[in-house]
Amino acid sequence: MLTIDSDVVIVGAGPCGLMAARQLQRAGHTVTVLEARDRVGGRTHTDIIEGAMLEVGGQWVSPDQTALIALLDELGLQTYPRYREGESIYIGSRGEVTRYTGDMFPALPETQSEMARLIEFLDELASRMDPAAPWDHSQASELDTISFHHWLREQSKDEEACNNIGLFIAGGMLTKPAHAFSALQAVLMASSAGSFSHLVDEDFILDKRVIGGMQSVSELMAADLGDSVILNSPVLTLRYPPTPDGTTQVQAIANGVTVTARYAIVAVPPNLYSRISYEPPLPRRQHQMHQHQSLGLVIKVHAVYPTPFWRDHGLNGTGFSAGSIVQEVYDNTNHNDPRGTLVGFISDEKADAMFDLEPEERRRCILESIAEFFGPQALSPEVYYESDWASEEWTRGAYAASYDLGGLHRYARHQLTPVGPIYWASSDLAAEGYQHVDGAIRMGQQTANHIVKALQSQKVSAPN
Ligand code: FDA
Repeated sequence: MLTIDSDVVIVGAGPCGLMAARQLQRAGHTVTVLEARDRVGGRTHTDIIEGAMLEVGGQWVSPDQTALIALLDELGLQTYPRYREGESIYIGSRGEVTRYTGDMFPALPETQSEMARLIEFLDELASRMDPAAPWDHSQASELDTISFHHWLREQSKDEEACNNIGLFIAGGMLTKPAHAFSALQAVLMASSAGSFSHLVDEDFILDKRVIGGMQSVSELMAADLGDSVILNSPVLTLRYPPTPDGTTQVQAIANGVTVTARYAIVAVPPNLYSRISYEPPLPRRQHQMHQHQSLGLVIKVHAVYPTPFWRDHGLNGTGFSAGSIVQEVYDNTNHNDPRGTLVGFISDEKADAMFDLEPEERRRCILESIAEFFGPQALSPEVYYESDWASEEWTRGAYAASYDLGGLHRYARHQLTPVGPIYWASSDLAAEGYQHVDGAIRMGQQTANHIVKALQSQKVSAPN
């Protein structure tokens, strides 16, 4: 058994845990990062599949994600814009396929004006929310006790407008059905991205990608940390007994390694907190709160073709259809790659239905759905790949965690409260950049800053 002493032990080498470690080390503290997987990066994973480089997890960067953008600069990573020349495709509620430009779906005029009205209303609600304290919103309780689905239908009788607006948050972000989370959770999603209008504008929210892949952010941070990052070491127990002199101490016990530290950061998504045993057990409220946070479900599908054939037809590769299996699709061609790549997303209950099928049948259904946007050429990719994050023990869903109905205003004010020496951090708990890599970076920085202060104050108050 390897035993290590550090100032801080960090559970999880995703972007959040690694950023926290980077900041703590810079402040002169020793850190050990214990990672369950045989790789760093967590929900960012740039893989080579049948010769094609694919972003299986998080990849896009938007202009408001300034913490991530600053880190990319610091690490010397370049970005490139998503392809957006030409027309997009919209498939309406009656299955009609329409080409369009601009950021408003080409629905019937009355549906368009309903959508514009709902967007304006959601923008207004989001503008009155501090994403760091959604429970303080003037309508927090009212909005948190109604599902987003039903809230939308209270605002509008236009079913297509409700489905389209629902798509941006439900299928598009939280990857849960709109009846499974509250209107307050939807407003938080908008507020964390600056506004609801930002979520509707794919040119904003899906602006750029990292050359070489988003996982390289974590790989470069881990390279700087060197031997302080230990892979293949799932933390099974966090022991934090009271100490006689009142100073903090915590032991992180993983297979083959025990780290003794002053503080711990649990930098894993909240649905995995209960995978760790805590000695003594966590307080009642933590036990309850963690049972109300769960990950959504989405299949991210890549289809790689000899060329980006849709561009020859004046299409930019973007498509939306709230009623289709593949609800959103984009050109995801790699930087300087002659091949063309489409990426599609299949969310929540549609993902359940797809996973019920045998792999060949699932592939057929998904490609047929993509072909509804781009024609029969889409049926025969050279490389085809479906992400399956929900089967991965150390994630169990995608993209991120959200509260169930009523949970946000009931519990979230306590989600960052440390338990003794144990701090909680991940993109799932972020304010700005919630659910995104930017939020993971911000949470890593913020948590490291709190611990630096706590370590300093212990030093100051320590007897000579
Ligand atoms: P993350 O989950 O990344 O890292 C946690 C780490 O902890 C993992 O490495 C895990 O193995 C480890 N771990 C868990 N339990 C452990 C234990 N007991 N002991 C030790 N280690 C343990 N974001 C974005 O900005 N743009 C995008 O385009 C997308 N798209 C997207 C697509 C898909 C399919 C996914 C799954 C996700 C995205 N995201 C995204 C979200 C983004 O990837 C996510 O928010 C961040 O990776 C979260 O980083 P964290 O470090 O908080 O957790």
